[in-house]
Amino acid sequence: MKNFKRTLITSALPYANGPVHIGHLAGVYVPADIYARYLRLKGEEVAFIGGSDEHGVPITLKAKKEGVTPQDVVDKYHNMIKASFEKFGISFDVYSRTSAKIHHETASEIFKTLHDKGAFIEQTSEQFFDVEANQFLADRYITGTCPKCNFEKAYGDQCESCGSTLNATDLIEPKSVLSGNKPILKQTKHWFLPLDQYEPWLREWILESHKEWKPNVYGQCKSWIDGGLNPRAVTRDLDWGIPVPVAGAEGKVLYVWFDAPIGYISATKEWTKDWTKWWKDPETKLVHFIGKDNIVFHCIIFPTVLKAEGSYILPDNVPANEFLNLEGDKISTSRNWAVWLHEYLEDFPGKEDVLKYTLTANAPETKDNDFTWKDFQTRNNSELVAIFGNFVNRALVLTDKYYNGIVPEASDLTDYDKQTLSEIANLKTEVEKSIDTFHFREALKNAMDIARLGNKYLADMEPWKVIKTDPHRVKTILNTALQIAANLTIVFEPFLPFTTEKLRGFMNLSKLNWNELGRTDLIAANHKINTPELLFDKIEDEAIQHQVDKLLSTKKVNELEQAIVSPAKNNIEYDDFAKLDIRIGTIIAAEKVAKTKKLLKLTIDTGIDKRTVVSGIAEYFEPEKIIGQQVSILVNLAPKILKGIESQGMILMAENADGSLVFVTPATPTKEGSEVR
Ligand code: 2FM
Ligand code: ZN
Repeated sequence: MKNFKRTLITSALPYANGPVHIGHLAGVYVPADIYARYLRLKGEEVAFIGGSDEHGVPITLKAKKEGVTPQDVVDKYHNMIKASFEKFGISFDVYSRTSAKIHHETASEIFKTLHDKGAFIEQTSEQFFDVEANQFLADRYITGTCPKCNFEKAYGDQCESCGSTLNATDLIEPKSVLSGNKPILKQTKHWFLPLDQYEPWLREWILESHKEWKPNVYGQCKSWIDGGLNPRAVTRDLDWGIPVPVAGAEGKVLYVWFDAPIGYISATKEWTKDWTKWWKDPETKLVHFIGKDNIVFHCIIFPTVLKAEGSYILPDNVPANEFLNLEGDKISTSRNWAVWLHEYLEDFPGKEDVLKYTLTANAPETKDNDFTWKDFQTRNNSELVAIFGNFVNRALVLTDKYYNGIVPEASDLTDYDKQTLSEIANLKTEVEKSIDTFHFREALKNAMDIARLGNKYLADMEPWKVIKTDPHRVKTILNTALQIAANLTIVFEPFLPFTTEKLRGFMNLSKLNWNELGRTDLIAANHKINTPELLFDKIEDEAIQHQVDKLLSTKKVNELEQAIVSPAKNNIEYDDFAKLDIRIGTIIAAEKVAKTKKLLKLTIDTGIDKRTVVSGIAEYFEPEKIIGQQVSILVNLAPKILKGIESQGMILMAENADGSLVFVTPATPTKEGSEVR
């Protein structure tokens, strides 16, 4: 393995068109943060780069939908994302954005260099053009019928109903999102990166020289390369993005996936004047943290750009994760099926580390994984509280109780004491091995084993019993326990930084270096600890139920939105409709009909009279709560006996997809007897 002088860590730039959610965190930011904190704690030179990805079509579409500018959209979300990351403790050295001037300059410059070197090929092709809007249409600006499944709202690049990847020209009856018109095909010129020319190099660089990459990453690269690489357009006809900096490219911008990874370079420039040592010195190790949908861009396209440019280093590793699902369903921004970071921070203040712990313990490192609120609660209550918290609390409380918080001296360590302490050094090696190879869940488990070791040690030693028979021995036991606790402040620093800070506070310790981990004299005899508090709190069922309910209501909303609307009935003549005498009435009395589940007996003031109506709404309304409710009532329906009661008419109800009922009520209070026509 090559010896590097420093490590440059990048984390995928989230699109600034929505907040970040647990999927982003588990896939990218939590592992990247662990890695950065770990290396810093080892005293290594590290740069941890982040920022917002502010170009691309989805941002322009969102702006259009909301009637604001794309800059408004990205300003809003960039600030929101940045603030959430800060509160959550993602320890970026810099968090920049791709609408920044420095980024526009950097990306233009790299494009220009490649252009001047003749690294691109120029090609003219036919693209859809909206004559009325006078602009070319990006794939997402075209909808039409999917040729595979006949879904009528497929996009130019994909059908969200059957999942097929499409070309805009495949769509049946394509329509422009801008004007609703049928677009025409028009010639346009674009610049292409000839990936095919780099295939032998990519084959050698990835498939031969980076066999150590994670199997999911290596496998995806291999299948792209084996499938045959084609030239990729790196420009687009769009008015939001970085203008293509060459003559004859008016109205065109760089493709978002060309400029976004360059954002890592611009952010580094924003952070330090000395940026070239991070990007151009082969002794810098570059690691990209990304999700699996970004693999081709970070392993094939961006490295090809850097290679073509010629003066930059290439990634040493790209530890991409798979996806995290939520309660068995794919996380989706458009369906609001997510746990949003900013909402979590509000709902669980002070519990940043609990989420970090759960997301790491259950990280989708080798396959897609599922986040459930139940698991989150169990991880907290049965692991953080019951093991880590319990151990630390016992060690500190007993020291406080028996010795007024003065660390007792250890003498005559037994073999068991020594063996317990020496286990920490072994576990240190395990944690290191795991982090160095990007196995963060394993690393967290190894770290947790040190807390388990401490918990078991105290449970075996029972100092609360020994104090009665051999008080001298308790000094050594507690000293040993406190050494373990002090080690926990180090080993958990990369994973649970708020917790270790708290624990150091309890123990009155300053921050220790990673290399001290494993030492058995971290806390000196006679050192005074502070009055201990709880390290973690139990999470109660109600808090979890609240989150589950929130998701259930999202599900309901989605189901309603997706519900199939029944087709219209056959046409009727106006005279048929005019036969219906519908009036506005008010419910003045209501009671359940005995021995039925569904029926309510209502008394309705129809303006004409006060009459009885038997209505099948009892499952959705409490009788006492609907007194005074205005309704629409069909007053000339022939009376009918229902459960022995004569029903004189029918009130109109709208039915939701889930069968629930809603009154059809005038928008403002209306006089009883008013006709509905
Ligand atoms: O997939 C995404 O969310 C992209 N915005 C990631 C970009 S990573 C890098 F290239 F900037
Ligand atoms: Zn389809």
